[in-house]
Amino acid sequence: MSDLIQLNRLESGVVELVIDRPEALNALNVGVLLGLKAKLEQLASDASVRVIILRGSGEKAFVAGADIREMQTMGRSDAAQFSRLGHSVCLLLESMPKVTIAAVQGFALGGGTELALACDFILAAEKAQFGLPEVGLGVIPGFGGTIRLARAVGMARAKELVFGGDRIGAAEAVQLGLIRKVLPQDGFFDEVRKQAARIARNSLSAVSAAKSLMNEFEETSGVHPKVDAEIQRFSSLFGTPDQKEGMVAFSEKRTARFEGL
Ligand code: HXC
Repeated sequence: MSDLIQLNRLESGVVELVIDRPEALNALNVGVLLGLKAKLEQLASDASVRVIILRGSGEKAFVAGADIREMQTMGRSDAAQFSRLGHSVCLLLESMPKVTIAAVQGFALGGGTELALACDFILAAEKAQFGLPEVGLGVIPGFGGTIRLARAVGMARAKELVFGGDRIGAAEAVQLGLIRKVLPQDGFFDEVRKQAARIARNSLSAVSAAKSLMNEFEETSGVHPKVDAEIQRFSSLFGTPDQKEGMVAFSEKRTARFEGL
C-alpha cells in the first residue's frame, strides 16, 4: 500500500506527495486512499513541513477518479465506507495546519477533481482536464464534490458540471473559479515547486492561523453534516441497475445504456 504513494522531501519545508499508479491513471482505490491518509497524518505533525504539493505520477493524469473496477463489486455498505475514507482524506487536506496545493497535469476526473478541490488551491498545467463524470456511471460524486464544487463555482455552474458530466479544460476551469491558475506545460512542476517554496518562506504559524480562520469564514466546519448526507446518497445508488450498468460498461469499454427512474 505504501508504495502507491511516494513522498519527496524538497528543500525549504516543501514536500511532494505523489500518487503512483500510472497504469490506472492514478485511480483512487482503497490502498491509495489509506496510503494518502497515513502520509497526511504523518506530515500534519511534522514540524519540518510547511507546504504539501499533491500530484499524480506520469504525464497523463493527476487522478482519473475513484477506481471504477474496485467500485463495480461494492455493495451499499462497502460504498459508504469507501466514500467515508475518501472524505477523511479530503478533510485532512482541507483542515491540516500546512498549505496543500494540488498540482494538476492531465486528467483530474471524478474523485480526482474532488481531491484537488479539497486542497487550499489548485495549480494546473495547460492541458489539464477537470470534470465530475459520475452520473455517467450511475452514481454521484462521493468525495465532497457536491459540497466543494458548488462552493467554488456557485450552485448553478456546479449543477451544470455534475448533471452533464462534461470535461472542461484548464482555461475554462480558471474562468469558472474552479482553479487558481494555469501554468505552461513545460516546466510545470518546477514552477509549482517555486510557488510552494515562496509560501514556505513565510511564517507557518501565521499562514496556518490564516488558513484555519479563512476555513471558518467559509464555513468549512459546516461541511460535516453535508458529508454524511453525501455518503448516504452516494452509497444508496449501489446495487441499482444503473450503477451496475454504468460500471460494467466502463470495464467493457462501451457506452452505458441507462433505464429511466
Ligand atoms: C479504474 C481506470 C480509471 C478509473 C482509467 N483507468 N480511469 N481504472 N478506475 N477511474 C484505467 C483504464 O481502465 C485503463 O486500464 C488505463 O487506466 C488507461 O486508461 P484508458 O481509458 O485506456 O485511457 P484513455 O483512453 O486515454 O482515457 C482516459 C480517460 C478514461 C478519459 C481518463 O480512462 C476514463 O474515462 N476514465 C474514467 C474516468 C471517470 O469516469 N472517473 C470518475 C470515476 S467515479 P487498462 O487496464 O484498460 O489499460 C469517481 C467517484 C468518486 O471518481 C467518489 C467515490 C466515493
